[in-house]
Amino acid sequence: AALAAAGGRRLALDLTSVDAGRHGVLDRAVLGTLATELERAVAAHGGAVVAATDSPDLTLRLTGLAGTTPADATSVRGDSAGEADRAAAGPHDGFTVVRADGRVTVTAATPTSLLHGWFEVVRQGEAAFTGADGVAHRAPAAALRMLDHWDNVDVHPVMGQVERGYAGGSIFYDAGVVRADLSRVTTYARLLAAVGIDRVSINNVNVHAREARLLTDDLPEVARIAAALRPYGVRIHLSVSFAAPMTLGGLATSDPLDEDVRAWWRDAADRVWEAIPDFGGFVVKADSEGQPGPFAYGRDHADGANVLAEAVAPHGGLVHWRAFVYNHTQDWRDRSTDRARAAFDHFAPLDGRFADNVVVQVKHGPLDFQTREAVSPVLAAMPRTRLALELQVTQEYTGQQRHACYLGPWWGELLGFRPWDGAAAEGATTVADVVTGHGPDAAPAVVAAGGGGIAAVSNVGDDRFWTGHPFAQANLYAFGRLTWDPTLDATALLDEWVSLTFPGASPALRDALHGILDGSWRTYERYTAPLGVGFMVRPGHHYGPDVDGYEYTPWGTYHFADRDGIGVDRTRATGTGYTGQYPAPWRDVYESPDTCPDELLLFFHHVPYTHVLHSGVSVVQHVYDTHFAGVEQVEAMVARWEEVAAEVPTDVADRVRERLAEQLRSAVEWRDQVNTYFLRKSGIPDAHGRTIY
Ligand code: GCU
Repeated sequence: AALAAAGGRRLALDLTSVDAGRHGVLDRAVLGTLATELERAVAAHGGAVVAATDSPDLTLRLTGLAGTTPADATSVRGDSAGEADRAAAGPHDGFTVVRADGRVTVTAATPTSLLHGWFEVVRQGEAAFTGADGVAHRAPAAALRMLDHWDNVDVHPVMGQVERGYAGGSIFYDAGVVRADLSRVTTYARLLAAVGIDRVSINNVNVHAREARLLTDDLPEVARIAAALRPYGVRIHLSVSFAAPMTLGGLATSDPLDEDVRAWWRDAADRVWEAIPDFGGFVVKADSEGQPGPFAYGRDHADGANVLAEAVAPHGGLVHWRAFVYNHTQDWRDRSTDRARAAFDHFAPLDGRFADNVVVQVKHGPLDFQTREAVSPVLAAMPRTRLALELQVTQEYTGQQRHACYLGPWWGELLGFRPWDGAAAEGATTVADVVTGHGPDAAPAVVAAGGGGIAAVSNVGDDRFWTGHPFAQANLYAFGRLTWDPTLDATALLDEWVSLTFPGASPALRDALHGILDGSWRTYERYTAPLGVGFMVRPGHHYGPDVDGYEYTPWGTYHFADRDGIGVDRTRATGTGYTGQYPAPWRDVYESPDTCPDELLLFFHHVPYTHVLHSGVSVVQHVYDTHFAGVEQVEAMVARWEEVAAEVPTDVADRVRERLAEQLRSAVEWRDQVNTYFLRKSGIPDAHGRTIY
């Protein structure tokens, strides 16, 4: 739609330097898409597609496979040295935009990068043609940019079709089979290409019996999904079960050091690549929440990952091995076990043992995608391993796409976190640096590969708005853009999304969307679990408040509230020792309640309700204040929407209205249950005398 502003332009696609024979199946498919996209643009917005030699306003040119980074390219990120380093360091794709004499030329070394360059022009609209002359090179910060679908082929009796999915059914499967009509999957791929995502894992990490067979019996059907994504340069990955050699292959063991097991995985991989030449690789959740893994054979996770890595290596494949490993059958009475410690304890000692084509995929926090938790210390502990950051675009713990909760600001904080330096240290190494191969002491192979990249659980389903809540689309958009440049400002990203989604949005609509969404993650935090303590959600589906819901369960997610205080003591001095997993300065910053940031206080410390925060109020008064404020902010969101709803299509207006009403109902429920719980526990009244039940 942004092209409307550039209507009437002449567009040319110059592919004269392309030797189709040099390209793989993926690139050849994308070549056709480029032509289609240009034709589509002129059909919608006017103009003409002309011969490349006819001096058009916009030329896209494929330069051939060598020389991805023209020497004269300047950075558009204001960080030219860093950008050049990045381009030199890893096999990153990217494109160059040259604007001279009113003519714009986009060049790239691969069709997929050229497509990304085209979408960049689309995003800029008229501005792509009217800015100052110059050369800009854009390359994605993360070489691997992936969305994981937790989709089941069958509808699972407890989890439904899409585990933690809040946007209807799967776009890939229906009624126990791959959908006959996969046109929506191709549209999805187009959406992904427009935000720069180029890998998708197509089934749940909890691999049930039916889904395990995607790897073998269903390969022709999986190949159809790959074919539907391919025209937009998106390649597929599969989640596989570590027990597959037994459950699918009939072997007596899945021991990763067993020769027959190794051979089984090699054969399985050979068959996959025969069916899908541009297949990406495997995703594995092992020894976690009931999934099988190498522990059953006394092997560790490097042994487990490497057997799959060996099988996929001849095909250039990857293994995304998840670090989400912990004991989910914990005894709640045992205060010495700390789930937060688990990933580090299992994985940090294995640094240097993983094959070069293994990516260890690490959840952003040590627990489980909570609205607020500390950054995982694993990200600072494995310089000789390709580490990927794992985020949830799907809003499991952030309102399940019934609540408006824009996650861009949060991801910006996570990506910008400086594990080895204080929060104020400008230019220090960040989490984004680590996962793009620029962490301190990174091994040469990690640097060469550009690290392990960024992955996230998708929020897309067969819902008519794709994401349930129309505003949840902004999260998908921001995620893709941040994989290209983790330093992008979340507010500016939201602005881009508004421009592309509501073309010609009035200033009032734009303001209202910012008013509703900019601070919505912090608003959500205010009316839910306080000060980083986490959970307090209803067990099972994880929606709505249940303060003690997980308190006496085996899941290892406790808050330990009693009449005197609340929080988890994770200090070295008196607690679980988890703070010791961080490098300085954080191991000390978090160790003392005097220096621990307020928002994480209860994640690291058990304190009395009367403990005074840096903000100057007591813990219990903070709970009351934030829960009242959170509801007031949702009330303001509802009012704000009513002022502008008439400006958007009725179906969008109505869906947002319905969701905001539910968000308000839910926020009130959270406020009243949390406030009442703490009033009853502490006996301390609200300083402002507001109603607590
Ligand atoms: C969470 C989520 C599960 C999921 C798991 C995972 O625990 O609730 O549904 O399987 O994360 O990341 O593997």
